[in-house]
Amino acid sequence: MNSASDRIIEPFRIKVVEPIRMTTAEEREEILREAGFNLFKVPSDAVLIDFLTDSGTGAMSAAQWSAIMRGDESYAGSPSYHRFEEAVRDIFGFKHVIPTHQGRAAERILVATMIRPGDVVPNNTHFDTTRANIEAAGATAVDLPCAESKDLALPAPFKGNIDLEAFGKLLATDRDRIPFAMMTVTNNGGGGQPVSMANIRAASELCREAGIPFYIDACRYAENSFFIRTREDGYADTPLIDIAREIFSYADGCTMSAKKDGMVNIGGFLCTNDSDVAKQEEELLVLTEGFPTYGGLAGRDLEAIAVGLYEALDLRYQEYRYSSTSYLGEHISDAGVPIIQPPGGHAIYIDARTMLPHIPRSEYPGQALVIELYRTGGIRAVEIGSVMFGSANPETYAETELVRLAIPRRVYTKSQVDYAVDCIQDINRRRGDIRGVRIVEQPERLRHFTARFDLI
Ligand code: F0G
Repeated sequence: MNSASDRIIEPFRIKVVEPIRMTTAEEREEILREAGFNLFKVPSDAVLIDFLTDSGTGAMSAAQWSAIMRGDESYAGSPSYHRFEEAVRDIFGFKHVIPTHQGRAAERILVATMIRPGDVVPNNTHFDTTRANIEAAGATAVDLPCAESKDLALPAPFKGNIDLEAFGKLLATDRDRIPFAMMTVTNNGGGGQPVSMANIRAASELCREAGIPFYIDACRYAENSFFIRTREDGYADTPLIDIAREIFSYADGCTMSAKKDGMVNIGGFLCTNDSDVAKQEEELLVLTEGFPTYGGLAGRDLEAIAVGLYEALDLRYQEYRYSSTSYLGEHISDAGVPIIQPPGGHAIYIDARTMLPHIPRSEYPGQALVIELYRTGGIRAVEIGSVMFGSANPETYAETELVRLAIPRRVYTKSQVDYAVDCIQDINRRRGDIRGVRIVEQPERLRHFTARFDLI
């Protein structure tokens, strides 16, 4: 640290740039109209700051790009696979490492191997693809978030925790129907909030006592490790890699989307300590993803992941990562914008229902805010509320109306984040003028991707 300043700065400099196309307010109005006011239909080159997702949208390092050049594209036995496997084993510690093209492919193979119709799978909060894969196999996905997570404005340190009491009860009553239990770190569905080591350890012990395998959805394992270091007693001096190793030492396997803390644009994996399970999973892998030494990825992708998994555990990087995300959260929250507190690791979630109390749920306050963000500043965010989780027939609504601003890794500079802060503060000052929306066209399922809206 430079003694003249304790400011946390970007721990990298920029070597390659990608121009952002500037749009005028009139152009954005036209683009919105053409897209039916659905941000998923807006071309990304018409977006100034893209906070749609932190998945696969990060910038790779020079070390990753050079590793890519040594990618060995052999069908079988590629040394790139061995470098990938070695990195995953070193950090995650599991016996079997199965590469997949992204997280949901790992989920699908896990579910197809372990689940029978009628089963139950508990989790702190299932991510949508995990839930969808479990339900597609005829099982029930049960979310057991901790009590603190229900109060959006409460700044508790580990709001991603699982409710241990409810978890223990479910393991006792439904033990024979639970093929495995899961823990998602950080808890994306619950606001990007971390899970404490104590909670992971206790959940793992409950599973061990019940004889049930314990899996971790590891997407944001490095961010979660950073939160444990900064918020949990006893870890202040522990290197992030050792915290990560301890997390996974409590588990029997994991699913991973390397598009998050693997710091790559595509890739994932599935791990297990059970050799019989691994054998079945590899058979399925060959059927739909590819041979077990590439699993739907190119050798170069495996190389980039092998490097990225370590870069995510760099303490300077995580300090910058969290300070950048919380900078956005704190600046809009200080201006009166209600957000899930405290700021999450990869995203800020605005509570649109509290921000726009004059817009009823039936007029989708989250979607109204997402549209206004694009109209005002060319900023793209995603509604996580009744458009995403509600339905038309029967008419249902989500529990909360949130707007997620997910921050791509190593992509935006502080002045670009400042620009986003300015736009959101401006919107907040004139929030009373924002109008709700109605849905004019929608498919039966996953309507948020293709629905068309109109302003009320
Ligand atoms: N688990 C979690 C916790 C996730 O956040 C995601 C993806 C997945 C699994 C699935 O991984 O996309 O590689 O198949 N989350 C992205 C998001 C899409 O925007 O939050 P995938």
